[in-house]
Amino acid sequence: MTQFTANVLSRLTFAMLGILLAISCKNKIEESPTAPIGLQCEYMENPVGVDSETPRFRWRSNVVQDEYRIVVDEDSVQVSNGKGTIWDSGQLKGSDNLAVYAGSRLKPYTRYFWTVQVWSDGETRTSAVASFETGLKEESNWKGNWITDSKDVNLKPAGYFRKSFDATKSIRSARAYVAAAGLFELSINGEKIGDHVMDPMYTRFDKTILYVTHDITRSMKQGQNVVGMLLGNGWYNHQSTAVWDFHKAHWRGRPRFCINIRVEYDDNTVETIVSDTSWKTSLSPVIFNSIYTAEHYDARLEQGGWNAPGFDDNKWASSIEVVNPAARIKSQVLHPIRHVTRIAAHGFKKIDDRKYIFDLGKNIAGVSELTVKGNAGTTIRLKHGEQLDSIGNVDQSNIDVHYRPTDDSDPFQTDIFILKGGDTETFLPRFNYKGFQYVEVTSDQPIELTQSSLSGLEMHSDVPIAGHIQSSSDLINKIWSATNNSYLSNLFGYPTDCPQREKNGWTGDAHIASETGLYNFDAITIYEKWLADHRDEQQDNGVLPSIIPTAGWGYEWGNGPDWTSTIAIIPWNLYLFYGDVRPLQENYENLKRYVDHITEISPKGTTDWGLGDWVPVKSVTPKELTSSLYYYADTRILSKAASILNKPEDAKHYEALAATIADAINAKFLNKTEGIYGKGLQTELSAPLFWGIVPDDVKEKVVNNLVKRIHSDGDHIDVGLLGTKVILNALSENGQAELAYTLASQETFPSWGYWIRNGATSLFENWPIDAKSDISRNHIMFGEIGAWLYKSPGGIKPDAAAPGFKHVLLEPHFMHALQSFEARHTGPYGEIVSSWSRSGDQIHYTATVPANSNATLRVLAETIDITSKTNVEVTTEGPQKVVKLPAGTHTFEIVQ
Ligand code: BGC
Repeated sequence: MTQFTANVLSRLTFAMLGILLAISCKNKIEESPTAPIGLQCEYMENPVGVDSETPRFRWRSNVVQDEYRIVVDEDSVQVSNGKGTIWDSGQLKGSDNLAVYAGSRLKPYTRYFWTVQVWSDGETRTSAVASFETGLKEESNWKGNWITDSKDVNLKPAGYFRKSFDATKSIRSARAYVAAAGLFELSINGEKIGDHVMDPMYTRFDKTILYVTHDITRSMKQGQNVVGMLLGNGWYNHQSTAVWDFHKAHWRGRPRFCINIRVEYDDNTVETIVSDTSWKTSLSPVIFNSIYTAEHYDARLEQGGWNAPGFDDNKWASSIEVVNPAARIKSQVLHPIRHVTRIAAHGFKKIDDRKYIFDLGKNIAGVSELTVKGNAGTTIRLKHGEQLDSIGNVDQSNIDVHYRPTDDSDPFQTDIFILKGGDTETFLPRFNYKGFQYVEVTSDQPIELTQSSLSGLEMHSDVPIAGHIQSSSDLINKIWSATNNSYLSNLFGYPTDCPQREKNGWTGDAHIASETGLYNFDAITIYEKWLADHRDEQQDNGVLPSIIPTAGWGYEWGNGPDWTSTIAIIPWNLYLFYGDVRPLQENYENLKRYVDHITEISPKGTTDWGLGDWVPVKSVTPKELTSSLYYYADTRILSKAASILNKPEDAKHYEALAATIADAINAKFLNKTEGIYGKGLQTELSAPLFWGIVPDDVKEKVVNNLVKRIHSDGDHIDVGLLGTKVILNALSENGQAELAYTLASQETFPSWGYWIRNGATSLFENWPIDAKSDISRNHIMFGEIGAWLYKSPGGIKPDAAAPGFKHVLLEPHFMHALQSFEARHTGPYGEIVSSWSRSGDQIHYTATVPANSNATLRVLAETIDITSKTNVEVTTEGPQKVVKLPAGTHTFEIVQ
C-alpha cells in the first residue's frame, strides 16, 4: 500500500467514524428528546485550547433535574457508554447546571469527551457527547522560537513568513498553536485557516499574550505542506500617532510570533514544526496597516502562491529570532472577532468617474470591501466616516479630533488600494476596522463603480445573542436595536468607547453598559478576558487606569471609582447573570486592594476622585457625590463577595465600611428635611436612590423631588453618563415607571428618541446632534436604556440570592403608552419570557420560566387571575400582587 492510499484510507475511516458518531448522536437525541442540551465548557461549545486546570461545564435540562452526573474520558465510546476514567462526578443531587472539573490532572494536547446525565422522576437521560481539547497547558511546551523579519518598528509593509515541510506519514490530526504580538493571518497550502479575524485579542503585551489554537487537520496533506503567516501591527506596533501615545508604548515592537504545529501521525508518532530562522520572509503587498487608522495595499506587489507549495522563495530572507515579549502566554478561549454580517450599499452616488459615495444605511464597526477593475497603478482611496458634509462628501470632523498625524501618508479611516490591473480585483483590509456609515471612494484614474461594487462587513466579537425585545412602539424597538448595534460595535475582545475616534477600553463606558450587554448577549468570555487585563494593569497600590488595556496612559487621568469600578461591577454582574462564583474569586483580591486604596485616600469617607456625570445635557452633578456612590457600591459588592466566598471577617468589615461611606455621603449631600441631595438635580436625586443609600424615612420625599425636577425639566432627561445608568431605574424601582417610560420614549431633544428621529442607527456620545465636541455617533456609554427595557417594562431581573436566574424576579411595569411588550432572555436555565398586551386597563400577561428555575411575579394590580393551569397562590403585599411561579408557561389577566 502506498503512503497515498494509506492516507486516503485513513481519512475515509475518519470520515466513516464521523458519520457513525453523527448517526449515533442523532439517534440518541431522537430517543431522548428531553436529554440535556447546550453543553459548554468554559462557556464555549466544544472548545479547543482549554488550559484551565479546572474548566467549568454548563448544560441545560428541559426536564426537572433531580440529580446529575458528569463523565469525562479521552475515549468518546466510553463516554457514550456512561464511563469516565478521567472524571466521574458521581451522582450528585440538585438542579445545578454548572460544574467545575474535579478529575485527574488534564494533559496537554488532548481531546476529552464528556456527557452529562440527569435523573428526573426516576428516569435518566444522557446528553449527546461533547468535547473540549486542552492546549499547551505549560509554557515549557512551547517549542517554537519567537521570530520576526526586522527590528525596525517604523517599517511599514507587513511581513510574510513561509515554511515548507514534508509530512512523511499519514496524518491523523494536526493543530496550530499560534502566539503573536500584533495580529496574524495563518494559511496552509494557500488557504486561510479559520474564520476569525484580527487574532489574537488585544492585551497588555508585556504582561500577557494570547495564543490561538486551530484544528488544521483538513488543511494538511501527506507530502509537502506550506504554512504562511502574514503579520499585522495591531496595538503592538502602533505607527499612527494620537493623543494616547500608543506609538510610544514601552512594549512596542515589530510584530512577531511563535508557532507550534503539532502533527500526530496514524502510527502514533508526533512531529512538531516550529517557528525558527528556517522560516523565509518577505514584505507583503500590505504596505501599511494601522488598527487605528487604515490599511494600504499595493496589489502590484502580490506574489502569487507565496503560501502554497511550488513557490520559489529563494529570494526571501531568513527570519530573525527575537525575545518573547510577554511575561505569560495564555490560551485564547473566547468568541472571536468575525465578519459577522455583510451589508449591501443602501445608497450610491456617482459624482464623476473618479469619485463615488456609498451609504450603508447603518452606522457600523467593520470594514468595506471593494471590487473594481482598472489600470495597473490606479490608486483608490476609501475614506470612511459617520456623516456627510453639506455638499455630500464624507466628513470626519466628528471623529478625527484626537489624531495627530505627522504627515499626509496615513489619512484617518482611509484605506488606500493600488490596482495591479487586468482582471477584476477585490480589496478587504485584514488588520484594521473602522466606525462608519459612508465611504467616499476616490481614484486618481477613471474607474467605473456601481452600487454593488462596495459592501460593508460588520465586525465584532461574535458573541451569541441572549435576548430580544419587541414592543408596540416602533421607537422603542429602534432604540433597542441601536443600543445593541453600539454595544457590538464596541466589542472587540475588550469593550471600547467608540469604533472610530479612539477604540479605547474606557472603563466607565463598559461598566455602565455591562447589564445591557449581558441581557442581550452571552458575553461572559469577553468580560472574563477583560478582567484578566484589569489584573495585568492594576498597580500594587490598587490603582487601575481609566482605559484598559493601556500603554501607560490613563493612570493619571479619568481613573477614579466612577470609571474603574469595573473591577467590582463586572464580576458582580457576571455572578448575577451566570450564577458563577469564579469571576468573584478571580478578582476578589484585586477588588479588595482597590477599595482599600480608595479608603486610604479618603479619610472623610467621601471622595471626589473621578470624572463625574460625563457629557451631561446641561446640569453638572458634583463628582464627589457620584464618585463616593461608586466607592460605596464597590464596598458593598466586596462585602457581598466576601460572604459568598466564605470570608466572614471581610464581609463584616466591608459591610461596616459601606455603612460609614453611606453616612458620610448623606451627611454631606442630603438635606433630610427637604429630601434633597445637593441642588436636587436629576442625577443628584436618582443616583442615591439607585445605589440604595437613601434612608427609608426620606425616600418618598426624594422620589417626589425627583419627579418634580423632571417635570420642571419638561419631562426630559438632564443627565450625563452616570445619570443615564440610574435615572430610569430609580424611577421604575420607586413607583414611577410611567415617568421613566415618558423619558425613555421622548422624541424631542434631549432623548434617545431624538437621535432616532434624526436617523440614528446607533447611540451617540452627546445629546445635541450638532454639539461642538464629544460627537461620536457610535458610543455605548448612554446604553443602559437597553437593560432598563428588560428590567422595567419586561421586568426580568436576576436575584442575588439565587443568581444565574435560578430564581427569576418578574416585576413588569405595564406602561399605559404601550399596547404590548415582550422581553426574552436566555439565561443559564433557558429562555425566560415576559410578555404582555393590554386592552384598556386589562393586561394579558404571559411568563415562561425555564425548567429547574422558578420565579416570583410581583405586579401592581387590583386583581390578578391565573388563566393557565398553574396551581399557585396569589398573595397581596400592599398594592402588589405576588405569585410564586414554578417552571412552565403561565398566563394571567390583570386589572390595574
Ligand atoms: C471617551 C468616553 C470616555 C471619556 C472619559 C472620551 O474620550 O470617548 O467615552 O468615557 O473620554 O473621559
